[in-house]
Amino acid sequence: MADKRITLAWTGASGAPYGLRLLECLLAQDYQVFLLISSAARVVLATEHGLKLPAGPDAAKKVLVEHLQCHTDKLVVCGKEDWFSPVASGSAAPKQMVVCPCSAGSLSSIAHGLSDNLIERAADVVLKERGQLLLVVRETPFSTLHLENMHKLSQMGVTIMPAAPGFYHQPQSIDDLVDFMVARILDHLGAEQTLVPRWGYDQRQR
Ligand SMILES: Cc1cc2nc3c(=O)[nH]c(=O)nc-3n(C[C@H](O)[C@H](O)[C@H](O)COP(=O)(O)O)c2cc1C
Repeated sequence: MADKRITLAWTGASGAPYGLRLLECLLAQDYQVFLLISSAARVVLATEHGLKLPAGPDAAKKVLVEHLQCHTDKLVVCGKEDWFSPVASGSAAPKQMVVCPCSAGSLSSIAHGLSDNLIERAADVVLKERGQLLLVVRETPFSTLHLENMHKLSQMGVTIMPAAPGFYHQPQSIDDLVDFMVARILDHLGAEQTLVPRWGYDQRQR
């Protein structure tokens, strides 16, 4: 049976709706999601989405479950220094991890193996275990440092997916743009994706 467990980290880059929608889709597909939320991600989520998450993992989970109207048993919200979480050890961590959105700061920390909080440690574990790591990086423009960090990680097999939705599916709303990015992420994870028509199939007529 496929290991339907995944680590999802939200960091403090713009694009909180991408992370929220991705979480919703993964839970709808019965993934067990270990959710890690940085302090800056909570600020961004409140600013961009009006959703105020408490700092404590249990209280944050309660708010998210109410907001998404989702299953409670599949969502595990982990604290910033919850070193006993399964994601902190190669012996137990899910083989797939997505950082969405991924800030330039977290990109740098991951590229340098800092492991100073649970997000950085979980990414380090996926790297050392040679699992699948996807970073949905959001910044513009990119500095040489950002590009070097992305290049370094890409050479290690990390998938760098800039939060840069296409427009060829003729989006009618912000939700359509969000779904474009989430659809590409789900594709890379090998998860089901019916959010956006595939290129060459069911395209809207011009
Ligand atoms: C509303 C808001 C939007 C931000 N947008 C970005 C962004 O798009 N990209 C980025 O790299 N940092 C952005 N930042 C700055 C990061 O949140 C900040 O560098 C933070 O230290 C990142 O920490 P983290 O990676 O642990 O979440 C934003 C901050 C705020 C409050």
